[in-house]
Amino acid sequence: MNHPITIYRVFFLAKILVTFFLRLNNVIAQQEQFASLYNSTNCGGNPISNMTTEVTYLITDYLPGVSYRVEGLWTIELCRENYLTCYLREVRSGKLDENCYQLIPERENYTRFLFTRFGDVNQVKTELTFFSEPEFKGERFLVDERGREYKEPIEAQSYFFTGQNVWEILKVRNETEGTCLNDTLGGSEYGFTVNPRTRMQVGAVRFECRERIRSTTGRPSSGNRLGLSETIFGLLLAVSCASVKFR
Ligand SMILES: *[C@@H]1O[C@H](CO)[C@@H](O)[C@H](O)[C@H]1NC(C)=O
Ligand SMILES: *[C@@H]1O[C@H](CO)[C@@H](O)[C@H](O)[C@H]1NC(C)=O
Ligand SMILES: *[C@@H]1O[C@H](CO)[C@@H](O)[C@H](O)[C@H]1NC(C)=O
Ligand SMILES: *[C@@H]1O[C@H](CO)[C@@H](O)[C@H](O)[C@H]1NC(C)=O
Ligand SMILES: *[C@@H]1O[C@H](CO)[C@@H](O)[C@H](O)[C@H]1NC(C)=O
Repeated sequence: MNHPITIYRVFFLAKILVTFFLRLNNVIAQQEQFASLYNSTNCGGNPISNMTTEVTYLITDYLPGVSYRVEGLWTIELCRENYLTCYLREVRSGKLDENCYQLIPERENYTRFLFTRFGDVNQVKTELTFFSEPEFKGERFLVDERGREYKEPIEAQSYFFTGQNVWEILKVRNETEGTCLNDTLGGSEYGFTVNPRTRMQVGAVRFECRERIRSTTGRPSSGNRLGLSETIFGLLLAVSCASVKFR
């Protein structure tokens, strides 16, 4: 008789637990990507523009020289009105407070700044992006844990990935051991690992790295994110077992 009620209770409890653990998961540090443009050469004063995604900035007034800071990975270009002709493409990655970059618009009629953001807004996604040309230009190939959009084999001349992740690159699909790409975040849970100039044949990509899995017993800080679904599954299992026993 109380059978349906018990099941309802189990689901209700499970739902609360799942919500709780998903929230816990979101507490993982992340940082919104950001770029600020200043009407001064030393990032002094208030920014004249704040950007979180691809943005163009039109120079209407005379700007004797500007400067900018970035959080995340961006390119900055100076362009003509049509945005087709640009020069001075600068690739910048880092933390907002670390560096101030100067920019002196020198050429006539190049009156637009073009700020382009790369990667996910919070710098945490488990994604690796290859480019067919150096400095994140040319065709792009995005790989996630399931290999989305990736078509092998490719030759990559630059790449970046976000978050505290490790990837394994195999030259050919049937190779047993590839090269590990370790993140360079130094323990931070968000951020970019970049290589603007390389030349690598990519026949297959694996999330995680066998070599690393073999040589370490676990991944202390990002392991909790990976184990989340298992945790939830385990909890659900435990809860349902408990309820069966209870009845
Ligand atoms: C930038 O600063 C100069 C003076 O240094 C000023 O003449 C100009 O109007 C300013 N431009 C903007 C967009 O604030
Ligand atoms: C940009 O952000 C800074 C700090 O949050 C603020 O002081 C400034 O007014 C903003 N500038 C614009 C143009 O929104
Ligand atoms: C800049 O634009 C003006 C007006 O369109 C044109 O007369 C001038 O030749 C251009 N200067 C250069 C260096 O292209
Ligand atoms: C991988 O496959 C290619 C042919 O597709 C073969 O020539 C090569 O010997 C294989 N390598 C290994 C390590 O099995
Ligand atoms: C990546 O990390 C693993 C284990 O932490 C290490 O054995 C390996 O040498 C590293 N690879 C590179 C290219 O630094």
